Amino acid sequence: MSTDLHDPLFNPSNRLPNNYRAYRRMVNTRLLQILRGNPGCRFLEIGVGPILRRELFRTIDDNCIEYVGLDLEHVCAKRRADLAAAGIANRDIRFLGNVVGTYLFNLIRLARHQETFDIIYLDGNHSIYVDLAAAIAAVRLLKPSALFLFDDVRFAFGGRHIINASTQYAKREQTEQLTEDEANEPHVTIIIRDYLIPLFGFEVERSLSDPDWVALRAPKFTPWIRT
Ligand SMILES: C[S@@+](CC[C@H](N)C(=O)[O-])C[C@H]1O[C@@H](n2cnc3c(N)ncnc32)[C@H](O)[C@@H]1O
Repeated sequence: MSTDLHDPLFNPSNRLPNNYRAYRRMVNTRLLQILRGNPGCRFLEIGVGPILRRELFRTIDDNCIEYVGLDLEHVCAKRRADLAAAGIANRDIRFLGNVVGTYLFNLIRLARHQETFDIIYLDGNHSIYVDLAAAIAAVRLLKPSALFLFDDVRFAFGGRHIINASTQYAKREQTEQLTEDEANEPHVTIIIRDYLIPLFGFEVERSLSDPDWVALRAPKFTPWIRT
């Protein structure tokens, strides 16, 4: 396995982006490039987000991509309405909302319906309490050699990381449940570095990754992948 606890990608001294807005634009561009390079793929986004990303959904529509987005039900309802208003009426774009709790049960339901995906993007709660379980449930949904993408990899609830508004909300909620040390650890890094890579044999796609945005490639053959 080419990645371990000392992988330079996870070195805590890697510099943070100094222009967070520019960094977000770069991340969006990278996601669009990945999707355009995989027309007809099945794409699961865990954490749809509070803002309609018109270009993303146009790209999904134009490239006949089957999209499933998971978020709180009120966020999903808003996105459904936004897409209808934007004239993007596509039956292959679905939003599954959770009214309470987390998206975990919707991930379990997708697995029960034998749904699998070529690309999964985990950009939701960023807390280990929510996203470690979600990441493991998502592993069950990946096709062989699928991509598993992660944003805000170095975000820490206790840190001074530059963050967007939706993460700020999660930050208030989570810090009450964490000690200072736990809040200062980047939870998404723990999920990727300490669990997904060593337990499931994912490889880092170096050309698509940086310290804040990591792309993992699922193995070709494993017992946990449904073929
Ligand atoms: C950072 S935003 C997603 C941004 C989006 N992927 C993008 O690229 O613009 C995180 C999303 O995760 C959702 N989220 C956080 N905790 C959640 C939970 N417990 N259940 C469902 N959704 C949750 C939030 O509502 C928010 O919309």
